[in-house]
Amino acid sequence: MTATTPSVADDLDSLIATLSLERKVELLTGHTTFTMTPEPSIGLGEIALSDGPTGVRGLKFTGGRQVSLFPNATLLASAWSEETAELVGGLLAEEAMTQHIHVVLGPTINLHRSLLGGRLFEAYSEDPLLTGKIAAAYVRGLQRRGIGACLKHLVANESETLRNSMNSRLDETTLRELYLLPFEIAVTESQPWSIMAAYNDVNGVAATEQDHVQNGIVKGEWKFDGLIMSDWFATKTAGPAANGGLDLVMPGPDGPWGAVLAAAVRAGEVAESVIDDHLRRILVLARRVGALGEPRDFPAHLPTPDSPIRRAQLTRLAADGMTVLTNNGVLPLADTTSVALIGRHAVETIDMGGGSAQVNPPYQVSAAQGLRELLGDRVTVTDGVEVRHRPVAARPGFVVNPLTGEPGAHVTLTDENGGTLIEYDRPTIMVGLDDDLPRPAARAEFRAKITADGPVEIGVMGIARWEVTAGGEHFSVTVKATSTDPGEAVLRPPAHTITMQAAGELEIVAVADLRPEPGGGAGHELLSFGLLSLIARPAPLPLDTALATAVEAARQADLAVVVVGLTEEQETESVDKTTLALPGDQDALVSAVAAAARRTVVVVNAATPVLMPWLDQVDAVLWAGLPGQEGGHAIAAALTGLIEPAGRLVTTFPTADAATPAWNVTPVEGTVAYTEGTFIGYRGHAAGHAPAPLFWLGHGLGYSTWEYSDVTLTATTPPTLRATVTNTGGRDSREVVQVYFQPEEADQPVRLVGWTAVLVTAGARATVEITADARMWRRWDSTADRWSTLSGRGRLLLARGLGDIRATIEL
Ligand code: BGC
Repeated sequence: MTATTPSVADDLDSLIATLSLERKVELLTGHTTFTMTPEPSIGLGEIALSDGPTGVRGLKFTGGRQVSLFPNATLLASAWSEETAELVGGLLAEEAMTQHIHVVLGPTINLHRSLLGGRLFEAYSEDPLLTGKIAAAYVRGLQRRGIGACLKHLVANESETLRNSMNSRLDETTLRELYLLPFEIAVTESQPWSIMAAYNDVNGVAATEQDHVQNGIVKGEWKFDGLIMSDWFATKTAGPAANGGLDLVMPGPDGPWGAVLAAAVRAGEVAESVIDDHLRRILVLARRVGALGEPRDFPAHLPTPDSPIRRAQLTRLAADGMTVLTNNGVLPLADTTSVALIGRHAVETIDMGGGSAQVNPPYQVSAAQGLRELLGDRVTVTDGVEVRHRPVAARPGFVVNPLTGEPGAHVTLTDENGGTLIEYDRPTIMVGLDDDLPRPAARAEFRAKITADGPVEIGVMGIARWEVTAGGEHFSVTVKATSTDPGEAVLRPPAHTITMQAAGELEIVAVADLRPEPGGGAGHELLSFGLLSLIARPAPLPLDTALATAVEAARQADLAVVVVGLTEEQETESVDKTTLALPGDQDALVSAVAAAARRTVVVVNAATPVLMPWLDQVDAVLWAGLPGQEGGHAIAAALTGLIEPAGRLVTTFPTADAATPAWNVTPVEGTVAYTEGTFIGYRGHAAGHAPAPLFWLGHGLGYSTWEYSDVTLTATTPPTLRATVTNTGGRDSREVVQVYFQPEEADQPVRLVGWTAVLVTAGARATVEITADARMWRRWDSTADRWSTLSGRGRLLLARGLGDIRATIEL
């Protein structure tokens, strides 16, 4: 089927008519890694694209400018607020405009199917309505300022294992009712200007070739008039992808289209009108983002990433979404409490996930720094147990640039003759991809200074021959590739470290020899590109010493706060998790501290559910997500109640590994079968497809208590509920009132159908009215191949997550 672009003015057609077939086809592949191909003869400028959902990284993977690092998607979504999402879209538009970026590659609106999915941190929720509404608002925020959004990844892209080749198998009902629904909501409510087709196959057909999804549903039924681009390197074919509705191959300039596609047109396999339609959609995008004709103006003087306004915005966004999971009254912390803050995540708070969502922020505030700024001497800080399996690059802050004294490092890339090619001021650089150097680099020299007392881990990461001097120590090492996967050099570079004693200031110089070895070897065939980093951090203590030190610190204080969590080893693109257990000996750390401390609060620094075997031993648990550059300030504000952590969970937390409705992410004979159908997350738990969870989607205590009364149905199609909610606690608070529907049809899962949020002062009440979303009353009739409507009978549940149902109305 060939879809046509509705409501496109004829003048675009006359522009297209001036171009040869070859040129038209060239414009359907990107120009560079993150730009589209310009065509001055028709006034088409070079459209710049940038990842992606938690900050606008710019045109480079690592080498870009410093930009704001936002809280991650699950943390933002935990506010259950379209206003918040729209605000975030607007702020990202500012970040984009500062860098002259036209399209931001987000939001990610795949669903939290299996909790093992490595990329869930980028996506909002397990619920399609919540995901779709938040996405639509985020798109509005961006596009209102003339910056394009890009919904990704279309579709059934919920896991990372073998992501470029795996096939997601799901029935049409599950596809329509669940995984396409967020795309449908966003397309119909906010008209996004682009969509990204995923890496995976869907029911045996590549997502980039999905005539059924792209042409039939998205461009046909939903009348999407934007552009569909491929995920990076995802396009496998010319004719089938072009006919299947893919408009643009990214990245460029090389790719599978070009001459092959032109030949396919000449051979009659692809109609020229299909090529014209793809190009027309590119021109429509260009017109929307101001890259057709007179180039747009980008405003000057927008807030910088370290400006006071950004700091305040990012702190508030992060703290608002933080979620109180349990609390026996110990939170918010009282004014005089002395606190033993414990854990590697307290000193190295993880503020973002790994992969293409990463950005280069100006700074990252740790929980230790944040709490110390608020509570001063009342806080002691104790490093906890090791949380990583692999070495990690040095953090600016722990390392400083010896030339400037600023957080970071000094790196010089030189050529064969020792001439300087480029200098950087950070401990991680990319060679070969980002640098646009006139000549290949032969050497990279890293210089940094640390100040530490005790054991430190020093080393280097990246494929090269290295010479390293740190204080009085010197070592030479050849760091080799460990696999033939070129992605290793960028996503998981190998490393070498030593542990040494530091006493005060220490200067580190590491020199990477990047020249290929004569005759190859040493993995040097991969040296044309890759990440290079300096490693420097406090060395993890042996387990016994770490536990004993933490226990002693906990005993000395009124209260212990243990910060635990995941790192970018688990929450990352390209890799799935294998367990929800906290890595390393973090569970043992919490139990040991809880046994010794008078009271214990656990802060979970992770975007997705973790197991909590120690839950009954502690007094409160605050889920803090991946909170962005202001993370530590936000955690401190949430713990002390300066800002209410008023989040509600966006994903159901199970009690154990695999105690969920959908678990496996490893393809079997190439396929992951979505056999649980539409019963993912809370829907499956509620239907008894998995044991009762630890915490339901929608759960979150905030810092107040609530009474619900006067619940009435004020309309029926679709149902509208009215209720009074009374803040019975001692402080002003925000309540998220949620409505679920359990249809009478036995094969239908319970589902979220609407919600609203209210801010109510202590002791006061508010009347809320929630109209259920009519789309949640549809079912896909796969026999008739169309939507039909549920009987409408069943039960409406007014709830604070399905573990706390406050009223039931029979329909
Ligand atoms: C990711 C996309 C991202 C693209 C460009 C891909 O690996 O799947 O989400 O936008 O890279 O960086």
